[in-house]
Amino acid sequence: MVWVRQPDLIASWGSEMKIDSTLKYGSFILLSASLLLTGCAFETENSHAYLPDAQTEAAGVYIKQCGACHSVPHPKRLSAAAWKDIVAVMDKRREERKYPPLTEAQRKKIMRYLDAHAR
Ligand code: HEC
Repeated sequence: MVWVRQPDLIASWGSEMKIDSTLKYGSFILLSASLLLTGCAFETENSHAYLPDAQTEAAGVYIKQCGACHSVPHPKRLSAAAWKDIVAVMDKRREERKYPPLTEAQRKKIMRYLDAHAR
């Protein structure tokens, strides 16, 4: 997928041009931002702006960790209790697919986010 390849491309330009890693990282952020923007332009309905508090760190963790295998579910979809069960099932799905388990910090942020915005 393009997403995977382009940062490599940028990294190799970086070494040719002998720019430091901060700049390489900067290019990666710029690239990610432009991919995100393209994504939004392409599928306006599916940008994450529909999520509550979409700009917060907790939402960012939620979007990244819970959008890795499928689209990011809206927290209003379920009650806080149901989210707890679902997240436990998703732990199994992660394991099956050899995804690293959620860290405690990630789990706390995700649960707090879901609790705050559940149905
Ligand atoms: C490793 C891949 C993976 C990750 C990461 C993942 N899911 Fe899922 N998710 C699945 C699969 C596969 C399904 C399909 C239903 C099933 O197998 O349980 C699913 C289904 C769901 C459903 C629908 C369940 C239903 O019965 O309608 C919800 C809601 C959900 N995931 C929420 C989450 C949340 C919240 C997170 C983050 C904590 C998350 N998922 C992370 C793989 C994943």
